[in-house]
Amino acid sequence: MQPISRALVTGGAGFIGSHLVEQLAASGCRVTVLDNLSTGHRHNIVGLGDRIEFVEGDIRDADLLDHVTKGCEVVFHQAAVVSVSQTVQDPAFSCEVNDLGTVRVLDASRRNGVRRVVMASSSAVYGDDPRLPKTEDMTPKPLSPYAVQKLAGEFYAAVFGGLYGLETVCLRYFNVFGPRQDPSSPYSGVISIFMAKAVSGQVPTIYGDGGQSRDFIYVKDVVRANLLAASEAAANGRVFNVGTGSFIRICDLWEMIGALSNVKISPVFGPPRAGDIRESVSDIGRIGGLLGFSPRVALRQGLIDTLAWYRSTG
Ligand code: NAD
Ligand code: UD1
Repeated sequence: MQPISRALVTGGAGFIGSHLVEQLAASGCRVTVLDNLSTGHRHNIVGLGDRIEFVEGDIRDADLLDHVTKGCEVVFHQAAVVSVSQTVQDPAFSCEVNDLGTVRVLDASRRNGVRRVVMASSSAVYGDDPRLPKTEDMTPKPLSPYAVQKLAGEFYAAVFGGLYGLETVCLRYFNVFGPRQDPSSPYSGVISIFMAKAVSGQVPTIYGDGGQSRDFIYVKDVVRANLLAASEAAANGRVFNVGTGSFIRICDLWEMIGALSNVKISPVFGPPRAGDIRESVSDIGRIGGLLGFSPRVALRQGLIDTLAWYRSTG
């Protein structure tokens, strides 16, 4: 992998962003973090080294983006309204952040000579296409404002490549988990919520019948996919799935977390969430073939490590 001398990570105080910042700084890169701390935390990046500059601000602020993209070689765009349910409840606000914010990131990047923008897209763009696993050439069928917004970001990335020659790569993350995922909101990722419930002996809620499937990928594998996407020539202009190729159903996930944490608590069941996808599992042939990526951390091991982290912090 080519070393990166200077990078901007939007959303770098968040869960995935902070792991990316940590790895970039460890490789000798100077990193600017732009984050408005709406769901991220300063403490996620404190102590990760003196190569990191933190700028508190919003990706909708064009002047600020102009400032922070200057001199950057690569921009990793992670900032977003992340929760599918939250975008269902407030489509207009999430559109401002996820679409207008993304256009501002791309625009500042092309005006300031950034070589490449690597963008966090989502498996949510596939919706409920019954064909499994999901391959990048399927026609997207968004079921939520979130999915539409992520898909629009991908189209903008392609257009900025065509019109202005900006290199872009879009990574369709499947469900990411690991240390630092914040469980504090009902909108948080399911593994973080289930871990917090298991550690504190509380009853989790499963939305729907628990038969919905997800492909969970460990955060450090997602970081590796980002670094490959930033440096490999073959990645330019492409969209890649970032998953494991395996899935687990949500009710089995709770069983597994219960067993690993030695708790036996029956979940309660709530109504299914609007905009929820039923089946989700990735095909990772493209990213494997073009970038040589394959996940290294199995679900069980990732859950053990993540549980240890929640215990140590909680
Ligand atoms: P996160 O909430 O921990 O990180 C998002 C970060 O963006 C936070 O630090 C937040 O404060 C910041 N942010 C939000 N709005 C902002 C704004 N207007 N200006 C500046 N900063 C802002 O979530 P995450 O799980 O780390 O998600 C990172 C990216 O990955 C997002 O783009 C998300 O859509 C995408 N993604 C996540 C998953 C997953 O399973 N976690 C899966 C697919 C895609
Ligand atoms: C998640 C990400 C989204 C990403 C997508 C990619 C978060 C908050 N959302 O969405 O950014 O683009 O993956 O696939 O990280 N559930 C319960 N009980 C709970 C919480 C959730 O049963 O307490 C269920 C949900 O209804 C859903 C599944 O668990 O069926 C996963 O939910 P969630 O972690 O919110 O993720 P996604 O909606 O898949």
